[in-house]
Amino acid sequence: MTDLSHPALPGGLPDKRQVAASFSRAAASYDSVAQLQRDVGHELLGRLPTNLNPSRWLDMGCGTGYFSRALGVRFNQGEGVALDIAQGMLEHARPLGGARHFVAGDAERLPLQADSCDLVFSSLAVQWCADFAAVLGEAHRVLRPGGVMAFASLCVGTLHELRESWRAVDGLVHVNRFRLFSDYQQLCRDSGLRVVSLESRPQVLHYPDVRSLTHELKALGAHNLNPGRPGGLTGRARILGLMHAYEQFRQAEGLPATYQVVYAILEKPL
Ligand SMILES: C[S@@+](CC[C@H](N)C(=O)[O-])C[C@H]1O[C@@H](n2cnc3c(N)ncnc32)[C@H](O)[C@@H]1O
Repeated sequence: MTDLSHPALPGGLPDKRQVAASFSRAAASYDSVAQLQRDVGHELLGRLPTNLNPSRWLDMGCGTGYFSRALGVRFNQGEGVALDIAQGMLEHARPLGGARHFVAGDAERLPLQADSCDLVFSSLAVQWCADFAAVLGEAHRVLRPGGVMAFASLCVGTLHELRESWRAVDGLVHVNRFRLFSDYQQLCRDSGLRVVSLESRPQVLHYPDVRSLTHELKALGAHNLNPGRPGGLTGRARILGLMHAYEQFRQAEGLPATYQVVYAILEKPL
């Protein structure tokens, strides 16, 4: 059960303790359903500057450590730090290796020294951070001059079919909230980091039915944790209403779920 006893953070994003608990619970099931996360992280890896050779790199929001292992292979001369807010994820990732250090911590308050990293890599984690300016400030602080921050995140438009279908049923918040792409642009511009590239690209997955989508979100730990979400069991009539409403989006490949993915490469000026 999701713990509702903690107050929600301002800004409409879920409480971090709930995020950590939800991802910890999802650690065992995450890898089996993380195809989008794999595709996005590989795309982000492909966008890293080819001449990058970090002596110390950070995988921020490492989850099960899949990309910590990829970074460890690519930068095998460097010292890797894998960091996550969810203990359950770190316990899953640590025995699989890839990084030298596995650290519990918050992207908004990194437990790392200033000027201590050459690369901050973060795939599909910072959409969970209410204070993205703080995340950028921390990346700026821990990067050495010339260091790179590469992140992938999600913005408004993500899961819009699910959001609109729920709205047709009861008008309540059933889908996680996301920042506008223009907010990412503004915050990156104001960060003191140089914006090398920043773009948003849609990626659409297809499901045979609504249940397959909502089960997958739960297995990822990414189901709705927003303040204002409906409590209690989701009644049968509402589920049927949701299934009916979602059908308007059906395509030949199945029911679409759009992810609006943000990719950014930023650099700390010399
Ligand atoms: C969708 S998973 C992505 C994991 C991994 N990067 C990947 O691509 O497979 C998001 C991860 O971000 C972590 N996370 C969420 N908020 C965080 C925060 N404030 N600081 C550090 N990690 C956070 C979650 O615990 C979760 O493991």
